[in-house]
Amino acid sequence: MAERFLWFLKVIYLIILSLPSPLRGQNKELKFNDPGLKDQWYLGKNAADDRHNNIWSAWQQGATGKGVRIALIDNGVEVTHNDLLDNIVTESSFNYGDFNRDLQPRKTRTPGHGTKMAGIIGMSANNNQCGVGIAYEAKISALTFGWTALAHAQSYTHRLNETDIYVSTTGPPDNGQFIAKHTKQVMKAYVKGITKGRRGLGSIYIRTSGSGGYHGDHCGADGTVNNLYSIAVASAAKDHSQTLLGEGCASILTSVYTQQTKWFVKGFTKDVITTDLKGSCTINSGGSSTAAAMVSAIVALALSVNQQLTWRDVQYLIIKSSNQNNLPVTWYTNGVGLRFNSRYGFGILDAGKMVTLSKTWKTTGVNMVSQKVLVTKSM
Ligand SMILES: *[C@@H]1O[C@H](CO)[C@@H](O)[C@H](O)[C@H]1NC(C)=O
Repeated sequence: MAERFLWFLKVIYLIILSLPSPLRGQNKELKFNDPGLKDQWYLGKNAADDRHNNIWSAWQQGATGKGVRIALIDNGVEVTHNDLLDNIVTESSFNYGDFNRDLQPRKTRTPGHGTKMAGIIGMSANNNQCGVGIAYEAKISALTFGWTALAHAQSYTHRLNETDIYVSTTGPPDNGQFIAKHTKQVMKAYVKGITKGRRGLGSIYIRTSGSGGYHGDHCGADGTVNNLYSIAVASAAKDHSQTLLGEGCASILTSVYTQQTKWFVKGFTKDVITTDLKGSCTINSGGSSTAAAMVSAIVALALSVNQQLTWRDVQYLIIKSSNQNNLPVTWYTNGVGLRFNSRYGFGILDAGKMVTLSKTWKTTGVNMVSQKVLVTKSM
């Protein structure tokens, strides 16, 4: 009798194995009705080569950003936008420019900036509008930036109890004439985040490396980029030309494709599709802020498959998931045998690879000093 039952179980097991993979929950067949999806070349759906960020593969592995909260620090977000309102948590959002709850986009030179960044991360999926946000099931707290050290420090520790990732997609002037030093207050905020955030696993800080390349600006001159705690991100162009606005420095960890060519011209080029002001949709986002928003969403995908990753694990995973992709630059081999370029960091981030590695990653802990991996060639 027992034998029969086992035989029965075996047959069921074999039937399940023979089912098409979507029914088994792996390599999910994804279906979206958002019309802009066809313009999201950087997802890498049916791509002929590796000039994309392999996000489609991460989605196929079931990563959606679910359960992850991202604090977006920018110039305000149109929180009433139809394609955003499901994923923005207004009661956790705050304006650190004016220290109040007015979340409306500020009238800066680029008033739609924050709204664009929010869409890249978390536009709703399957609502017949615009494209699909990269971490389309993650939640976003919209934080309006303020220029003071106090505003920086407070936004970097905003609701540590419920925030996983802080992404800062604005920075000091990009004119090549400005040094933004580390302030004690901001460094203290970072240390508080990496020690107390995410119940001790450490908050994840992501920063745009800046868009002052044209003016000879250097991201090493920005203290909020040039430090151990934040992950600095650069933009790469799909045609592998050197991006005109990108800045270089030793702190850049990784890059993503956000531009078709070296030119990113506001209002003209067709690069990354996202939400814009007055409920609209644009295909004109690109450059290093777009890159930082994308990477924050990719990290959310990784965290959604493994909530136990520490802030150090995330840095290792990003390095291990970055590929050189035949970018026509000189790659220097560092002390542990990894290839690095100061414009692109360790290369182009592969979201699918990061999600795969995250699923089985053995933690390296939270401390800098115990990072044995750092001094072995095993990476
Ligand atoms: C986090 O802290 C804030 C302010 O102290 C509180 O309002 C909020 O409910 C807390 N969130 C969670 C998830 O505990």
